[in-house]
Amino acid sequence: MILVLNGPNLNLLGVREPDVYGSATLADLEANCRSWAAEFSLQVECRQSNSEADLLDWLHAAEADGFRGVILNAGGLTHTSVVLRDAVAGITVPVIEVHLSNVHAREEFRQRSLLAPVCRGQVSGFGQLSYRAALLLFADG
Ligand code: DQA
Repeated sequence: MILVLNGPNLNLLGVREPDVYGSATLADLEANCRSWAAEFSLQVECRQSNSEADLLDWLHAAEADGFRGVILNAGGLTHTSVVLRDAVAGITVPVIEVHLSNVHAREEFRQRSLLAPVCRGQVSGFGQLSYRAALLLFADG
């Protein structure tokens, strides 16, 4: 079982800056994750929160809750959150960082990820397919 976590503002997908993030909604993204997971013989649970505390609690509980991997799009917290980085570093379940947009091709403040050094890896810039790639990586690894 893989946990897909979407952080702040990702509930606004489809409405929010569609030129950057696309016109699909969070519900579309979560449905795609479920069908891609089935294709790779995986199961996923998808959660979204605008609260950093929820993301921390879900990461802390991931192993006890039976998840063997986490796909994390932390939104803007990627670039600012020491506590989220510490949570990822402090758990044994591997975390893959994903982004819809290519954060390295955007504003300078987005080009630094506090999470990347403690994640298994990062997939950035492929729209929803960033999540598909992360699922495939968990399926193969
Ligand atoms: C994002 C990129 C972040 O910089 C931004 O704050 C987001 C979305 C992405 O998926 O491209 O909220 O994580």
